[in-house]
Amino acid sequence: MSKALSTILFLAILTTSLFAEEPKNIKLLKGMSYDEIKLFMKQVSTGLGVKCQECHNTKNFSSDEKEDKKIALEMMKMVQGLNANVFNYKDAPKITCYTCHAGNKKTTNEPPKKQ
Ligand code: HEC
Ligand code: HEC
Repeated sequence: MSKALSTILFLAILTTSLFAEEPKNIKLLKGMSYDEIKLFMKQVSTGLGVKCQECHNTKNFSSDEKEDKKIALEMMKMVQGLNANVFNYKDAPKITCYTCHAGNKKTTNEPPKKQ
């Protein structure tokens, strides 16, 4: 390999490893890559019909300053628990935020009133 080429290769590897984003405050989603976390977060946002800033200070995604992020973490634990302990029968679907929230932050907790 030429010296110039190996220098370019070295710099390329250096920059990708220096700027690769790493999650810094993960309590539940351990073992997921940054890209996998972002993909999951998109699914969560769609499930609730909200944008990232509902739960995050988008200048610092690691921060726990928003109340909704704390609630969401408990909801994520609940969903993981339900999928592991309840939806574990043959051909059971895996539930998501959307199962209950259906694209709304507030759920429909009561049946519609009879006319
Ligand atoms: C309903 C709340 C909610 C929404 C909406 C949401 N997130 Fe999150 N996000 C969380 C929670 C809770 C965690 C922490 C998960 C954990 O601790 O395992 C988290 C963690 C993250 C992290 C890891 C941060 C770190 O350094 O630890 C990133 C990055 C992230 N979210 C990006 C996004 C993006 C991008 C969006 C929008 C597409 C988004 N999130 C929408 C609740 C939310
Ligand atoms: C088994 C049903 C169920 C599932 C699944 C579920 N939630 Fe919830 N969630 C609720 C109910 C019920 C409420 C109370 C809603 C209300 O106040 O109308 C709620 C409330 C919330 C709130 C507070 C909303 C507010 O402002 O009052 C957040 C944030 C939230 N859920 C996030 C999530 C996330 C993120 C997921 C997926 C990881 C999720 N939920 C999955 C049932 C569920």
